[in-house]
Amino acid sequence: MSAKIISGKEIAQEIREELKKEVQELKEKHGVTPGLVTILVGENPASVSYVTAKQRTAHELGFYSVQDNQPEDISEEDLLKLIEKYNNDEAIHGILVQLPLPKHIDESKVLNAIDPDKDVDGFHPVNVGRMVIGERCFLPCTPHGILEMLVRSGVETSGAETVVVGRSNIVGKPIANLMLQKREGGNSTVTICHTGTKDLAYHTKRADILIVAAGRPKVVTADMVKEGVVVIDVGVNRIGKTPEGKAILCGDVDFETVKEKASAITPVPGGVGPMTITMLMKNTVQAAKQFAG
Ligand code: GUN
Repeated sequence: MSAKIISGKEIAQEIREELKKEVQELKEKHGVTPGLVTILVGENPASVSYVTAKQRTAHELGFYSVQDNQPEDISEEDLLKLIEKYNNDEAIHGILVQLPLPKHIDESKVLNAIDPDKDVDGFHPVNVGRMVIGERCFLPCTPHGILEMLVRSGVETSGAETVVVGRSNIVGKPIANLMLQKREGGNSTVTICHTGTKDLAYHTKRADILIVAAGRPKVVTADMVKEGVVVIDVGVNRIGKTPEGKAILCGDVDFETVKEKASAITPVPGGVGPMTITMLMKNTVQAAKQFAG
């Protein structure tokens, strides 16, 4: 069996079309244009390319978008002041500080400084807490994107054995939490594997839905999955460059072999990546709607 390819690119495009209409409506009925600021500290090449893609998408959807580049050596105090400025800016509904930050800056202090009502990344502890208890909040973009992909692809999550590989605050912990919640796209029995897991393959082989966010190339191979599994590959690993200097990417899953056993699988690139950016846009529209009342 060769798996159905779940195209994040196509699903993301579908959601972006929906968002364009919502943006139009917000402008016409409420005179509100969704505003997003992305703050980039330093020039980490991966971060530069992510932020550029976020800005491009915001622009395409008709947002008011601001790209705020700050030098690598900005002080923590100045960065906190900048966030305060955007917290008080009525034209800005969403604030995103691209991570990672330089070592001299306390990441959690910075994330905590963002107004929870403008925290479109969903990283503020207030939003994390609301998510865990199932209250309305901004969901973190990558887990939110995974959920949308599963639901829009018609994957049955209720009662499924869902195995998550990775326990980061950005992906592993929140997606595990969302998958167990009692609503559409959830109600799974969830296992979280991590670097302390003794026998990773024992767990991955039991998965009906396998979500891999390990941050290491091709850690899941065909012998580690069962026939018919649905695989969501969150990994983006740069494993080389083409002669033209373009990055060669691969996921955390050995796509070529695993797709022969899976019933559905996301590719890299073109899988989770486009969904993450789209959910950031969805959160920003949500923030603008809340602002509009
Ligand atoms: N760095 C890697 N992923 C993300 C993300 O989703 N949001 C932010 N702000 N930084 C990141």
